[in-house]
Amino acid sequence: MKVCVFGASGYVGASVFQLAKEIPEAEVTGTYLEEPALFDDLYKLDVNQPESFSDFYKEVDPDVVIWSVMDGPNEHELTDQGLLHLITHLTPQTKLIYISSDFVFTEGKGPYSEADPMSKLPDDHLFSSYANAKIKAERFITNELSNYVILRAGPIYGENKIGKLDERTDKLSCYLRSGKPVAYRDDLIRTFVHVNDLAKVIQEQIESDVTGIYHTGESESRSFYEFMRMTAEQFGYNKQLVEKGSEREKVDQEVPKDTSLNTEKIRQITKLTFG
Ligand SMILES: NC(=O)c1ccc[n+]([C@@H]2O[C@H](COP(=O)([O-])OP(=O)(O)OC[C@H]3O[C@@H](n4cnc5c(N)ncnc54)[C@H](OP(=O)(O)O)[C@@H]3O)[C@@H](O)[C@H]2O)c1
Repeated sequence: MKVCVFGASGYVGASVFQLAKEIPEAEVTGTYLEEPALFDDLYKLDVNQPESFSDFYKEVDPDVVIWSVMDGPNEHELTDQGLLHLITHLTPQTKLIYISSDFVFTEGKGPYSEADPMSKLPDDHLFSSYANAKIKAERFITNELSNYVILRAGPIYGENKIGKLDERTDKLSCYLRSGKPVAYRDDLIRTFVHVNDLAKVIQEQIESDVTGIYHTGESESRSFYEFMRMTAEQFGYNKQLVEKGSEREKVDQEVPKDTSLNTEKIRQITKLTFG
């Protein structure tokens, strides 16, 4: 079975690439964009370049594709160009595993189930490129393909398979190590998911016939403030240094408040216990 991880140099992609390689019958390839590549055996590829994408794809000809690329403010290009190129190359036999986000629920009135309608942000909103591109990507996939799994995730945290921490926890550790207070908002409710739990679900999905949309993560949702206090305690730091942050926002930068995810459905298809 040939498996290709697009974005294998990224935070999530690196764990996925490592775990995919543990599958005995899998022949795994992966891509990176910016030097240096995280692993020696990755291909340098800009997924937005149709010719090089096509050449690479035809050479690799995968049975399973994992899309773990992200480009924040330019996320639209990844959907309109990269993902569209990919969709034109996929055969019905090729399974696509796409990592989506809780930001498809921009009204922020969670907890959300898989069947709940997605909603876009206004175009001039700070997060519209990312959130709206994810919605568009999900629509392309569900309209054009049948052999896919969309895994929606809230904030992804923890040390990945190569020892890299997510940016939020890294920042928390930096502050607390130096005895400085750090503030997080208590009004933003999320379903957190550990990076290696998400990667394990993807590893299971590589070998499975399951298709559809699934919410990933722990059954309990938490605010950033609660989650970071808990993390501080787990790391052995003084949790009193984690303070409540300001909730004042500009209208065009307003963050969706509760994007927590109901994760019941995925428990029917995985042996994994999140968290
Ligand atoms: N991190 C989170 O909290 C979170 C939450 C929900 C969903 N997600 C989703 O999880 C997936 C992985 O995110 P991540 O946190 O691992 O992001 P990441 O660390 O930023 O990794 C994204 C990767 O995408 C690659 N990339 C960007 N533009 C590219 C292009 N034009 N062509 C080829 N590769 C390109 C980058 O390659 P180089 O590094 O080689 O430049 C990078 O390694 C994304 O789909 C993201 O939307 C993440």
